[in-house]
Amino acid sequence: MKGKQWWKESVIYQIYPRSFMDSNGDGIGDIRGIISKLDYLKKLGVDVVWLSPVYKSPNDDNGYDISNYEDIMDEFGTLKDWEELLEEMHNRGIKLVMDLVVNHTSDEHQWFTEARKPKDNPYRDYYIWRPPLNGKAPTDWTAVFGGSAWEYDDQTGEYYLHMFSKKQPDVNWENPELRDEIYKMMKFWLDKGVDGFRMDVINMISKKEFLAPYEDFISGDPVNKEYEPNGERVHDFLQEMNKEVLSEYDIMTVGECPGVSPEQAELYTGEDRKELNMVFQFEHMSLDKQPGKQKWDLKPLDLKDLKANLSKWQKQLENKGWNSLYWNNHDQPRIVSRFGNDGEYRVESAKMLGTLLHMMQGTPYIYQGEEIGMTNVRFSSIYDYNDIESLNIYKERVLEQSYDPNEVMESIYTKGRDNARTPMQWESSANAGFTAGTPWLQLNPNYPEINAAKALEDQNSIFYHYQKLISLRKQHEIIVYGSYDLILEDHDSIFAYTRTLGNERLIIINNFYEKETRFELPEDIQYTKAELLISNYPVNEDQSLAAIKLRPYESLVFRCS
Ligand code: NOJ
Repeated sequence: MKGKQWWKESVIYQIYPRSFMDSNGDGIGDIRGIISKLDYLKKLGVDVVWLSPVYKSPNDDNGYDISNYEDIMDEFGTLKDWEELLEEMHNRGIKLVMDLVVNHTSDEHQWFTEARKPKDNPYRDYYIWRPPLNGKAPTDWTAVFGGSAWEYDDQTGEYYLHMFSKKQPDVNWENPELRDEIYKMMKFWLDKGVDGFRMDVINMISKKEFLAPYEDFISGDPVNKEYEPNGERVHDFLQEMNKEVLSEYDIMTVGECPGVSPEQAELYTGEDRKELNMVFQFEHMSLDKQPGKQKWDLKPLDLKDLKANLSKWQKQLENKGWNSLYWNNHDQPRIVSRFGNDGEYRVESAKMLGTLLHMMQGTPYIYQGEEIGMTNVRFSSIYDYNDIESLNIYKERVLEQSYDPNEVMESIYTKGRDNARTPMQWESSANAGFTAGTPWLQLNPNYPEINAAKALEDQNSIFYHYQKLISLRKQHEIIVYGSYDLILEDHDSIFAYTRTLGNERLIIINNFYEKETRFELPEDIQYTKAELLISNYPVNEDQSLAAIKLRPYESLVFRCS
């Protein structure tokens, strides 16, 4: 989008409530726990919180399986607690974005318990049902969490579709009554004052194109295609949602879109299209897996791939759509362990990665704990893990496909979602001050060294680096609106780029590795004055920008005119 918008100028902080702060000693993070930490978020300086789901849920997928959209999960508190949270956030000038999970519900949602009853009930068509095909599932689609995407339902002799776990049946967006119910539910939260939605796998809601109609199954001649996201009706649905709901409020939206290309992202986020403000894309999160394989099939990152990929997104959406910028969320391993160095250079590399991301064009997202450099975890046994995706891949590969268990554990250590979900590390005391009880998931044993209290005491901590990145964004329009250009494209270890707005230019220089290297400014970049805005090492005042010897993971941002 071309115009100035508050959500372009904002920095967003994601809270995964189960792991953030427990106020009542039951071992599970909760809403009152979040309220108790709002001053910490204010100090960091973030503008918006994206709260992962807090709705009623049987927790097959930790809240992404919703059984009641208009009430709060008991472990997290009550609707009253939530209202207080919203008020306390707004009092501090922080906005609240809720998670909207409407590709699927829980199988315990009343719509689905009704839908399962004999076939002529009005809720049947809220979900996607097909008769067996030659005695088997209607298509050979696999679910994201493994196994068939179809579950046979004994009561009615048909299969229902679930692109995630079998306790997450996909809803049928072709049904206008279902869409109306969803829009009503969105207004329920918006009228309470929420400031936007993060939309879970929203580019998966249109399936019609890939799945033969019910009648074709009855006549015995169905033609199914391989499932793909971004189905042909998704833009109709989002434009309708925008017209019916979003356009009535001053809010922000970000759609989670696995498998989205920059060309498709233009369609989702183009200003004239009236769909979403931005999307979460996943291409840069797939560069450390073997092409065409699953995320568990590991491959080292090639920096040139990362530079090419992020630069492609920067250029493609320039003046057309808008980027979201992220390294972490509740589904991704910790970035300092993934692309940085979680040993000797943890602090330097975490700061470098933060700078590299926050200086690009787009809205930056910080995932809880990223601002203190939390790392991946290695639990000794698969029994210590909670995440359905990790448990399923272990079962599938070790028990069914005879993989070496050590190899599978290595993949889980590197990519498993519980890396992001170990409780937030607040202090050095027992359980990092997260809970007075037994935590639902073990803590990372490094919490006595890595925690928020220590970070707050140390003026050189990652926390204060992030605080500075956020405050620079408020002082320099160029960080939000300047155009992006990659420099030193072929350099093996430096990720450097410029941002330009009017006569002003930023030069962002990052040594992505431990090995020292030399930066040389391309000759066509002219300037008369250069001021250092932020760095992760002490820098000499008279440091020339023309040539710099970069230390391990060194990162520098100069403002030139
Ligand atoms: C994406 C969410 O981020 C993830 O945590 C969840 O498991 C799936 N969507 C299914 O809702």
